[in-house]
Amino acid sequence: MRNFTFSIPTTIHFGKGQISHLSELRQSGTKALLVYGGGSIKRNGIYDEALRILGEAGVQVSELSGVEPNPRIQTVRRGVEMCKSEGIDMVLAIGGGSTIDCAKVVAAGAKYDGDAWDLVLDRTKIKDALPIYSVLTLSATGSEMDSAAVISDMTKNEKWGTAAECLKPTMSVLDPTYTFSVSRRQTAAGTADMMSHTFENYFTKEQGADVQLRFCEALLRTMIKNGPIALAEPDNYEARANLMWAASHAINGLVSEGSADPWCVHPMEHELSAFYDITHGEGLAILTPVWMDYVLSVKTVSAFATYGRNVWGLVGSDDWSIAHDAIAKTSEFFFKTMGLPANLRAVGITSDEHFEVMAEKAARRTINAYVPLDKDDVVNIFRAAM
Ligand code: NZQ
Ligand code: ZN
Repeated sequence: MRNFTFSIPTTIHFGKGQISHLSELRQSGTKALLVYGGGSIKRNGIYDEALRILGEAGVQVSELSGVEPNPRIQTVRRGVEMCKSEGIDMVLAIGGGSTIDCAKVVAAGAKYDGDAWDLVLDRTKIKDALPIYSVLTLSATGSEMDSAAVISDMTKNEKWGTAAECLKPTMSVLDPTYTFSVSRRQTAAGTADMMSHTFENYFTKEQGADVQLRFCEALLRTMIKNGPIALAEPDNYEARANLMWAASHAINGLVSEGSADPWCVHPMEHELSAFYDITHGEGLAILTPVWMDYVLSVKTVSAFATYGRNVWGLVGSDDWSIAHDAIAKTSEFFFKTMGLPANLRAVGITSDEHFEVMAEKAARRTINAYVPLDKDDVVNIFRAAM
């Protein structure tokens, strides 16, 4: 196991009715910027409830609404401007990962003397941020408990992740009932996203990290069990609760610190989103089995066989056949059980015209991954995914 520092300063209030803890925002001041997306929080009543609690606590609210899925730097800039001109004390995101990510970079931008895009391109420039609070409404990204934020500039076809300790939320409310209204499509995409986070951490060159690997297997089994239940019964509390808590742990450091290599499928997916604005989890589902097939070799077969045995319960002594079956199980789960799109054409990517430039950008990160991938490898994976 490698050396690491593990610190999660985020207080989690998990369960029904925990939104009452929003009164604690008063500890950070009197002016909050409420950040939200296209209006789901108004339709399911969370917006009214949050405003009532904040009002009673004496917190004034300004609003940054309309945060896009794959949040844009232009929206971040609007939020930063509001924080600076209105003397905002804290940022409260209510929504999914896009909303929380946008709020995080707004919070850092409010403390930065320059353009917020600098903070996306160069994480070392993030020195400070306003306190960040979140109410999560979609289980997927883990942004509610991690240091990362992913922001796009579609005018340049760029989507990059940034991260800093000060972007970890001060407090997050995780009420599984808030995810009852998440659509089938976003429930499936969210499950694929949290599974991908777990895979990115699970497949590593590090050999000695038993704790992290066994936790990963428990998380994957939880996601595989509960994803289909949430699709069939959107208001099944236990299924939604298990997905929510599993998603947070897939990315909060528990299963990555001390063991994970730089991620691989995510940088490739971010290029798909940057050029085609597709749903993150759908892109990951399409690429993951292709990537697994591509990197399966004598060096990796035992890891994929362990995945097959410990996650899918496959039995047998031949590692190669277990590994192939495990990859087939993964495809079947994504594309049949969860109904996710099975290839790039299914999400509207019908030509390879941008693959070279996308691959060149992705390879800046994938070259250091579990199985290093150069530009040509990434192009091959994109082509195989069509
Ligand atoms: O905008 P609203 O109206 O709220 O609707 C959203 C949006 O259309 C809707 N939704 C959210 N909660 C809902 C709901 N609809 C009904 N009921 C609810 N309770 O779902 C749609 C998608 O929301 P979004 O926030 O975009 O989804 P997700 O949470 O999957 O976030 C995706 C973004 O996070 C980034 C992705 O790249 C992408 O930009 N990621 C962030 C990470 C992080 N911060 O650590 C890591 C991830 O790997 C990922 O890259
Ligand atoms: Zn992700």
